[in-house]
Amino acid sequence: MIIRQMNQNDCEYILKAADDWWGGHYSSDMLSRWYIHHFRETCLLAEENGKIVGFIIGFLSQSEPDEAYIRIVMVDPAWRGKGIGRSLYETFFERAGSLGRSVIRCVTAPGKKNSIAFHARLGFMIEPQEQELGGVPAFINYDGRGGNRVVFKKVLDNMSEL
Ligand SMILES: CC(C)(COP(=O)(O)OP(=O)(O)OC[C@H]1O[C@@H](n2cnc3c(N)ncnc32)[C@H](O)[C@@H]1OP(=O)(O)O)[C@@H](O)C(=O)NCCC(=O)NCCS
Repeated sequence: MIIRQMNQNDCEYILKAADDWWGGHYSSDMLSRWYIHHFRETCLLAEENGKIVGFIIGFLSQSEPDEAYIRIVMVDPAWRGKGIGRSLYETFFERAGSLGRSVIRCVTAPGKKNSIAFHARLGFMIEPQEQELGGVPAFINYDGRGGNRVVFKKVLDNMSEL
């Protein structure tokens, strides 16, 4: 498996894969040629023998200079459980660290127990909130559009080794 930076020509494949891998239509402005162009250092693909089997999309926060944010990760269902999600995250951590970031943030929906378990294994802590949903702390209306989210934070260690 190799992890490589996305380029704009990957966009078409990623758009189709996202619908297939998410289990329903997946829509985000970040899955677009312009986003990949302007944020390509933090848009990564996993490939097995030339086939795209996973991707991660994030950014370096412009307003929080210590932080990087992961927007979405997806792995082809046929390739899950083989360490691809971990490799994508760990490569993102290395990149973010080498670009001067020490804190990684991301979120998921309170009902997404698989995603919560995955992030726990990757060393994220769940930020405390005033309310819980389904037994997990949930930031109510996180996105301002009614979406509640579990908020993850990871402080990168071994920064000096990156
Ligand atoms: C979440 C997702 C990216 C994980 O990818 P993956 O390649 O299967 O994950 P990995 O094999 O690298 O697993 C990494 C670790 O997480 C753990 N893990 C992964 N999925 C898990 C699950 N469903 N339940 C419990 N633990 C899980 C693994 O055991 C592994 O632990 P370890 O490395 O300490 O042994 C993948 O399931 C996916 O694409 N899901 C749909 C999209 C999604 O939900 N994205 C996240 C929401 S933003």
